[in-house]
Amino acid sequence: SLPVPPMSIRFDPAGGTLQPEGPTLTRRMSDLEGLFRDHAAWEQAVADGDPVVYSVVSSRVPEVERELPQSITTIQPGSTAGELWMTKGHQHPNHQGEIYLGISGHGGLLMFNGTETEWVDMTPGTIGYMPPGWAHRSINVGDEPYSFLAVYPGGAGHDYGWVLEHGMGRRVLAGETGVEFVDYSAD
Ligand code: F6R
Ligand code: ZN
Repeated sequence: SLPVPPMSIRFDPAGGTLQPEGPTLTRRMSDLEGLFRDHAAWEQAVADGDPVVYSVVSSRVPEVERELPQSITTIQPGSTAGELWMTKGHQHPNHQGEIYLGISGHGGLLMFNGTETEWVDMTPGTIGYMPPGWAHRSINVGDEPYSFLAVYPGGAGHDYGWVLEHGMGRRVLAGETGVEFVDYSAD
């Protein structure tokens, strides 16, 4: 990847795009295999149109050591068998920190270090900090799209297998009066 010059990057909330734009990722239900508690409900959702669960638009700053890439994730509102729509979640294999900044909607940042879980409620203006060694997943807990900015070290890497193997400590469900948490051990 080519080095980029100093620059200004604009986010267009209506179009969900960055200018100048970099790579865009779309995660559909079928991309979230093995992550929802209710496998049959997940399969059904894939069969019922395989909806887009979230998208990630990135700037042109490359994911290489010493650079500081950014991206904006937008998670659609929804739930599958009561489990709120979420990102896959990952660990940074090189154990580096990261920040998120809430832009719109209402979400949560679930972190897990293999032993303890932490939850940060995310609204516009909230900065969530992930220390090195804490795997992280984002969840839309509202009824509109939830968008946040992520800023992370270019050499951090993304380990998705870690979450498949270790889980995230807790699951986040839509309860009668708000968000409910259940332990992965209850699966
Ligand atoms: C980067 C980061 C975010 C996520 C994005 C999608 O380190 O944490 O940009 O990559 O929110 O989530 P995942 O990568 O878990 O599918
Ligand atoms: Zn990350």
